[in-house]
Amino acid sequence: MFHVPSDEMDLLLLPLLFTLISCHPDNQLCPNSSHHLDYCILGAGPAGLQMGYFLEKNGRDYIILERNSGPGSFFNLYPRHRKLISINKIYTGRRNREFNLRHDWNSLLSDRPDLLFQRISRQLYPEADAFPHYLSMYVKELGLKVRYGVDIGKIQATNLSSKRGYILTDQYGSMYTCSVLLISTGLWVPQQVNFVGSDLVEGYESIPVDPEEYRDQAVLILGKGNSAFETAQSIMGRASRVHLYSPSPVRLAWQTHYVGDLRAVNNELLDTYQLKSLDGLVEGSLEDIAIVRRGGGGEEEGRKAKRHRRKRSEAKQGVGRGQLYLTLTELLDVSSRNHSAEAKAENLPGYHSDNFSLRQPYDRVIRCLGFRFNFSIFDGSARPVHSKGARGRLPAVTAWYEGQGTPNMFVLGTAAHSRDYRMSAGGFVHGFRYTVRAVHRVLEQRYHGNAWPSTKLSTSQLLSWLLRRVNEASGPYQMFGVLGDVVLLHGSYCEYLEEFPVQALPQLPALSGHRVPAKGLLVLVLQYGLNRTDTLGPGRAESEWTRAWRSSFLHPVLYYYDTLPSERDMRLRPAGWPLPRPRAVHHVIEDFLTEWDQPISHSQPLRRFLEHCFQTDLRAFYAESCFRFSLTRQKPPLFCRQGYLKKQGIVGNRQLWQHARDAGLMPDLQDSEVFRESTQLPQYFAHTGAAVTSAMNLDFDGL
Ligand SMILES: *[C@@H]1O[C@H](CO)[C@@H](O)[C@H](O)[C@H]1NC(C)=O
Ligand SMILES: *[C@@H]1O[C@H](CO)[C@@H](O)[C@H](O)[C@H]1NC(C)=O
Ligand SMILES: *[C@@H]1O[C@H](CO)[C@@H](O)[C@H](O)[C@H]1NC(C)=O
Ligand SMILES: *[C@@H]1O[C@H](CO)[C@@H](O)[C@H](O)[C@H]1NC(C)=O
Ligand SMILES: *[C@@H]1O[C@H](CO)[C@@H](O)[C@H](O)[C@H]1NC(C)=O
Ligand SMILES: *[C@@H]1O[C@H](CO)[C@@H](O)[C@H](O)[C@H]1NC(C)=O
Repeated sequence: MFHVPSDEMDLLLLPLLFTLISCHPDNQLCPNSSHHLDYCILGAGPAGLQMGYFLEKNGRDYIILERNSGPGSFFNLYPRHRKLISINKIYTGRRNREFNLRHDWNSLLSDRPDLLFQRISRQLYPEADAFPHYLSMYVKELGLKVRYGVDIGKIQATNLSSKRGYILTDQYGSMYTCSVLLISTGLWVPQQVNFVGSDLVEGYESIPVDPEEYRDQAVLILGKGNSAFETAQSIMGRASRVHLYSPSPVRLAWQTHYVGDLRAVNNELLDTYQLKSLDGLVEGSLEDIAIVRRGGGGEEEGRKAKRHRRKRSEAKQGVGRGQLYLTLTELLDVSSRNHSAEAKAENLPGYHSDNFSLRQPYDRVIRCLGFRFNFSIFDGSARPVHSKGARGRLPAVTAWYEGQGTPNMFVLGTAAHSRDYRMSAGGFVHGFRYTVRAVHRVLEQRYHGNAWPSTKLSTSQLLSWLLRRVNEASGPYQMFGVLGDVVLLHGSYCEYLEEFPVQALPQLPALSGHRVPAKGLLVLVLQYGLNRTDTLGPGRAESEWTRAWRSSFLHPVLYYYDTLPSERDMRLRPAGWPLPRPRAVHHVIEDFLTEWDQPISHSQPLRRFLEHCFQTDLRAFYAESCFRFSLTRQKPPLFCRQGYLKKQGIVGNRQLWQHARDAGLMPDLQDSEVFRESTQLPQYFAHTGAAVTSAMNLDFDGL
């Protein structure tokens, strides 16, 4: 039904609508109503609403289905301690809206300059309640079509005129037939590990949040991520000791540059651990442990019994009888593997090794292991496969976020994070707002024949365009290593495509609707250095532009290919690289201010790289120099050919032009191949010179 222009498509859908709708969709008294839509979005969280905005703006037939009574309901409950850790930086010293989005991690994209999160909260780390408020405002002001209270319990695949579609069934038996299904349900299922005694463990989703509930209690937290540390931080002023236990050592976001790792705003417990104030971190497997209960006995009997009595009198829910010990399954005898039996001293590791770190008992054990995708809403015919990365917790998706094995079903938002898990920001609002836009561009191309938006530039304009993008673009900055700008090189002009998912580069022609020209392409991505560095140590930043490739902080990198990389090239790319080995690569040196606009350090090396790729001279010359070139050279530099000699972009130099004509230069040149090549782009030649003349090097003999 797709692959036809959108107007015709609507006509095709009409008969279907009439046959399927027997009563009005909003009427829930009518049990088996059925509707057909081109696009169904499941979940009115940030990703679903972001996609809703793009579909609404393009006048598409869509609905957002949400089981709760308002948008972003995840944030009504999480984070449990109610402080968002996404940066809401209001003052950047700049007015550039695009640039400011680099430091606004909560707003969704729209063409409304005032629809920013800062209208709701002005705190750097806002209250969690502010986020659903913001989303409600976003829905209301943009008039997005959201239907609340629709709980989709089943998703089946179907054949719609020989294309794969999906049927969603809600709690009333109403059915939604969708040509394209966009899954933005987020992650709701708490990650659990099954071990003996796991039912003695409380979950992050249901623990009390009042610190007083933990007064003088010893607490073991399973997990070392942000939810674990957030919980620890909230209770450490009341609890007697807090231990965090999980397989891997804590990873600090400021060291790994991955915002899903432990953020400094949550990490106060690192202080109390390192300054030896009773808290601590321990590594160990979660698979072969057991949590057992022991009522008394042992070296601590008196103290424990006392605490025991106090606790019983307070009668806390979920805790109470006895103390909880962490042990290993192999130490349990068969009878105590049934956890309701009391563990004996020899079932505990402390009995066998008197220096076992976690030998003391706990009053509470709390699980903070994160969340997983809910696969159970899918019928077998429509179920996405589990991702290879992210420990299988997420659906596997292609580089353009279509479910693997589920054509016409796309995954958006946090659930799509398997593509860049532990690498970039695709699992977070400030990252996936851009990947949702990329998916929308794929949808427009595939189902409506609208090619990926592009800007045509003259090649001599490219340098200043690239400099503008590296200095203000927020998409490649937030989604570093994942979304990159692609420049298709047609010789004298190029097409500039923004924020393409670079791992889908081999599929670029089909996904974008642009062909790859014979002259090849450039890809601009931002990325961190590949080598681990001592993040705060000396020599952490490179300052000499000739060694820009050693940069360790976020910096722009250009990849030049003369032919489109294949899927095989992509698969075999060097470890950690966002793209396969290119024909030429250029790193723009990291900059302390993230302002890559200086002549010697940034723009001149970049210009030389482009000249190397294009085999031409891209310097921005003054009219006078072009005139001198015209008199002395067979083939003047590109800037002169596209600008000066065609009487473009140079104001008030008619005289020079006339000189060139009088000298007999112009007629000859106009017939040359050079000139025929560049006839299509005069209007794009506006003000290139101004932006790049500071990088100019009038070195006539250096060519
Ligand atoms: C209504 O929907 C349910 C579930 O899909 C189905 O079992 C039932 O047969 C339907 N009833 C009618 C009258 O179509
Ligand atoms: C997962 O989906 C199933 C089926 O729709 C539903 O019953 C269950 O409540 C969902 N789980 C969560 C945690 O939302
Ligand atoms: C759709 O059609 C294909 C073949 O045309 C068939 O193999 C498949 O089972 C059908 N799927 C459904 C859900 O009917
Ligand atoms: C575990 O212990 C309880 C009570 O002691 C008993 O009822 C139950 O059958 C036991 N289960 C197993 C698997 O041994
Ligand atoms: C302390 O623990 C280590 C293993 O963690 C063990 O090898 C060592 O023997 C223990 N020391 C004593 C005195 O038990
Ligand atoms: C990374 O480290 C290796 C080994 O220390 C070194 O050879 C290489 O040059 C480094 N690469 C960069 C980009 O600094």
